[in-house]
Amino acid sequence: MVDHQQNDTLTQNSKVSFLGLGVMGFPMAGHLSTQGYDVSVYNRTSRKAHEWQKQFGGTAFDTPALAAKEAQVVCACVGNDDDLRSVCLGEEGAFTTMEKGSIFIDHTTVSPQVTRELAEIAKNRGISYIDAPVSGGQAGAEGGILSIMCGGDEKVFEQVLPLMQSYGKTIKRLGDVGSGQIAKMCNQVAIAGVVQGLSESLHLAQKSGLDVESLVEVISGGAAGSWQMVNRHKTMNADHYEYGFAVDWMRKDLAICLQAADEVGASLPLTAIVDQFYKDVQKMGGGRWDTSSLLKRLQKFDD
Ligand SMILES: NC(=O)c1ccc[n+]([C@@H]2O[C@H](COP(=O)([O-])OP(=O)(O)OC[C@H]3O[C@@H](n4cnc5c(N)ncnc54)[C@H](OP(=O)(O)O)[C@@H]3O)[C@@H](O)[C@H]2O)c1
Repeated sequence: MVDHQQNDTLTQNSKVSFLGLGVMGFPMAGHLSTQGYDVSVYNRTSRKAHEWQKQFGGTAFDTPALAAKEAQVVCACVGNDDDLRSVCLGEEGAFTTMEKGSIFIDHTTVSPQVTRELAEIAKNRGISYIDAPVSGGQAGAEGGILSIMCGGDEKVFEQVLPLMQSYGKTIKRLGDVGSGQIAKMCNQVAIAGVVQGLSESLHLAQKSGLDVESLVEVISGGAAGSWQMVNRHKTMNADHYEYGFAVDWMRKDLAICLQAADEVGASLPLTAIVDQFYKDVQKMGGGRWDTSSLLKRLQKFDD
């Protein structure tokens, strides 16, 4: 059994494990392998893990425990709180085989509560925990240019920073464990209002017979411009939503935001309304549509 010391240097040959090869995890784990890390992967649906192995090399395992064995760093990017608990805990969870002195990095967007709960369990087993939710979408993951918001011990953060730079561009520690997830909530709150505003803007343009491309060309460089406007207007205008950041995930995130806000006494009235709009999109069958599908909801109700 390897007992990793806290000051073990991570080299590009270090053994790293990645759990969850979805839209985000698949390319993120791929960047680690391309950078030379010795990567072992686990995915619940094993077909995806074998596809990953074919594309990037490395080793695919059937359980998180096997994938995490002897890894200096274990990263996860699964769906929600329960999914994260399931890959960490239980008989086949990663925490059962992770060594003392190893580091767990969670890239899933989850609640600050589950983060603190798992960080405490990890600490009792001598495992360091960094919460590191990401922003930048599928394109950011594939391009290796994600923004990563981190919480956890400063020294441990410094130790894993070069590893996260394999797939991240702007990476910042905001405080102790849980701070990364709070920052991610602030990110989601800011996005919710912007996407609804952009949807209303394009809806008005389409209803008025304006050419959306020309409109965006003239307004995107001014005060109305946003990442959403630049990256999403074309697909929104073409009524194309079968990609990107799923509405189901956004509702999971907004529920966390609203609860976190309630706990600290912060009112988020616009976020609460947009959350209900996303509920409408789910009822329209759009749970896996991109979050920019708020425009489709407006079109449906105005037809
Ligand atoms: N997509 C984005 O643009 C984006 C951007 C920023 C943050 N995020 C966040 O990143 C996380 C992952 O998003 P994603 O878009 O990559 O999701 P996704 O494509 O749905 O992938 C989810 C991954 O988690 C695995 N998983 C789910 N439940 C599990 C369980 N109980 N046990 C083991 N594995 C489980 C899935 O395995 P299977 O293959 O077996 O289903 C899959 O590998 C989410 O928290 C999301 O909110 C996503």
